[in-house]
Order: sequence, then C-alpha cells, then structure tokens
Amino acid sequence: MSHDSPSDETGRLTRRHYVAGAGTLATVGIAGCSDDGNGSGDDGGADDGSADDGSGDDGSGDGSGGDASSELEIIHWWTAGGEEDAYNAMLDGFREENPDVEIVDNPAPGGAGSAIDAVVQNRVIDGNPPSTFQIWPGQALTPYTNEGLLEDIGDSVWDDDMREAYLDDVVDLSSPAGDLVAVPINIHRLNNLFFNVSVVEEADIDPTDIDDPQGLLGALETIDAETDATPLAHQTQSPWSSLQLWENIFLGQQGVDDYQSILDGDVEGLEDEVRSALELLADYLDYVPEDAGSISWDQGNDELINGNAAVIHQGDWAAGQYEGASGFEFGEDWDMVPFPGTDGVYHSVIDSFVFPTNNPSPEATERFLNYAGSVDAQERFNPIKGSIPPRTDVPMDEFGDFLSRQFDDFQNSNSQPPTIAHGTGVAPAIHSALEEVFANFNGNLDVDTAYEGIRDAF
Ligand code: BGC
Repeated sequence: MSHDSPSDETGRLTRRHYVAGAGTLATVGIAGCSDDGNGSGDDGGADDGSADDGSGDDGSGDGSGGDASSELEIIHWWTAGGEEDAYNAMLDGFREENPDVEIVDNPAPGGAGSAIDAVVQNRVIDGNPPSTFQIWPGQALTPYTNEGLLEDIGDSVWDDDMREAYLDDVVDLSSPAGDLVAVPINIHRLNNLFFNVSVVEEADIDPTDIDDPQGLLGALETIDAETDATPLAHQTQSPWSSLQLWENIFLGQQGVDDYQSILDGDVEGLEDEVRSALELLADYLDYVPEDAGSISWDQGNDELINGNAAVIHQGDWAAGQYEGASGFEFGEDWDMVPFPGTDGVYHSVIDSFVFPTNNPSPEATERFLNYAGSVDAQERFNPIKGSIPPRTDVPMDEFGDFLSRQFDDFQNSNSQPPTIAHGTGVAPAIHSALEEVFANFNGNLDVDTAYEGIRDAF
C-alpha cells in the first residue's frame, strides 16, 4: 500500500504533517524488521485481515460527510489474545440496541497499534476517515486536535450523566485541547508481571518476594538454571514491548517522580538512571525466547499458558487471553504481581474512540460513541478485555477475582501515571522516535546509542 510514502504532492500543512508522521512509523517498522505498514507479519498475532485503505471498495461512504449512512466503519487493532472477543462482545450489545446500523469492521492488526497510525492518518488527511477509530486518549490525540480533525462531542455524546459517571482524570485525557473529543472505554494496567504458577514453583521462586527490577534478573537466572522453561516470554519483533519494559524498569528503580521528570523531558538530569534501566533491560533480554524476534506478544503469552515460559511483563490484556484459555485458572495456574518496585502504582493504558470530522456516518457514529460510553458497553467489554471500566457506576460482579483485585489496587493506588509505549503520556513524535530507538536496541543492545536516542527523542 502506498500510504507510507512521505512524498505526497499536495502542499497542505496538515497533509505534509501527517504523511511525515506516517513515514516515521514506516521507518520504525523496517528498523524493527516488522512489516510493510499494512499489518501483515507484524506482532498482532492474528492475521485475519488488515485495515482497508478506504479507497472506495468497502462501501464506507465517499467521505463527503453529512449523509446519514447506516454503515459504521470501525478501525481498531483488537485481533489478538482476548482482544477480539471483548470487542465483539461490545459490538453485540451495540447491535442489540441499533439493529439498523451495519458495522463495517476494518481491523489494522498489530499489538499496541503498531500498524494503525499509517492507515488512520492517511485516511483522515485524505478527507476519507472511517466512522470512528481506536486511539489512546491524552497526548496521542494531539496531532488530530491541533489540526481540528476531531469533532467536539462535548454536547452530542458527553451528556451530564456521562460526565458525572466518568473518572475526572479520564475526562481530562479526553479533552487535551479543551473540547471533549474521545470516549474512553477501559483502563488497563501496564505494570504487571504475570507468571505460570507451576513453572515458578519448580524454580522455587516466589514472585511476591521479588522486591525490585534487579531482583527480577536474579529470578530469571534461577528459572533458567532450574527449569526447561523460557524465563521471560517477551517479543522483540515490534519495539513496543521493550519500550514498555524499559519504562517499567525505570519506574521500579526510580519511582513516579523521576518517571514524571522523564515525561516532562528531563532525560539529561537522569542520565545515569536512564542508562541503568537500559542496562538491566539488556540483561533481561538474555532470557527471552529464541524466536522473540518473530513472535507476537500473544504468541509469547501462549508459551506461558502452555507452561513453556515462566513470566511475562505485559499490560493486563494478557489476562484477557488467560480468561479465554481453557483449564488455565487464576490463582491455581497463573497469577500476577505488580512489576517489581512498582507497588502502589497503577500505570494506566486507556483506549478510546473518536468522531473524525468529515464523518461518513455522523448519526451512526454518534450512536456508537454514546453506546461505548455506556454502562452496558463497559460491562460487556472490560471483563473479557482484562481491564477495568473508566465509568464509576459499572457493576463489578462479573469481573472475576483477578480484575476485582486490579480494581482494588486501582482504588488504593498512590498514582496512575500515563505510559510512554501506549501513547497517552508523550506526543506521537516522541513516541515514534522512541519506538525507533527500541527497535534498534532490540537488535544491538547498545546502551550508549539508546541513551542518546531517548535524550534526543524528548
Ligand atoms: C491497547 C490495548 C491492547 C494492547 C495490545 C494497547 O496499546 O491499549 O487495548 O490490548 O495494546 O495490543
């Protein structure tokens, strides 16, 4: 597909801006040996289709806006692990209330949205947006809000009931430029260390005893010596999992204030600390699967489910996958501790949907966003997804023991900082530059170059 080319002919600022962004992502993909930008062969795991470029053959409308098409085209990246089941459960609820709307599902597979930006940005700039698309709220929205490419849905969707029901911080993230432009549907936690109970028992490791990120290295060494399992079920095909592991090591070593300083751009003031987290990450990467460079996050997680791997650092979307695995029970077969050193922190990852301007189906889109913000949608979606709801009035009885514990941890947490790897905490240009840094680091483990890349990215 042609969307990655930075050399588009029209000279509009918005167009150049976005095409340049997409080009950067394509570069990251190549550096990370990931894909050609169309979602195939990336780390999404499921290759049941990739996002159409909207060139006109999907019946999603001509982008002229204003008509009341009853087709609702959704671009998202939930095709792996338990993601797809959660998404479908939400769509089922929407369909029950809106039988006249036909959903045109257009996934851009790739964990952490690794393939979605190129597709969505080019569609939006071309004036041919989908009805709605998945995006992290917060900083990730700003390229769109800067150019006025998202509708203000502060009145049409966000009625008083919804505003009152949502957590205030989540409402704030949905309005980075003042107007409310997004509807968040979940809150994931990133700082988890999941483990296969029998594998860690075989190595005589009690994960609750691992106090800090350095202690985790010792545990990986022991697992390696005492069992046949892969110690750390980590993927390096796409850079985001190493980026998120680095930010969690940093958080575990330094705490939230220093992490916040990094988000604020003070990398040089914390040079030794940033380097120390990189060095430890390089040490961890000795204990990943031999095929880490060609697997997706959920394929890594499958190995933990099968008992061929001991631990994994992932967001709690990994738990959504465990829920879907038969005979793999929370507490008996798998469990989780906060990433060592991050007790009391709920490192949050949030997904939302938006209303692009020039919308092909304004009425259906508004109905969908209304639904996504409802108790019913969040009650169906989150227990399967492995996340907790951003509304405060969703009954928690169907969330199971693990998510109930996460919910308690959230309620009792001291802070809920946004993440870097999942775009809420940093602007997309920084995010892309960091992905490039970690794509290279996955290959060369060069701490000096990675430090300089991180410093320059911020
Ligand atoms: C998203 C999750 C998703 C994960 C892996 C994150 O960025 O917020 O919803 O499950 O990526 O694809």
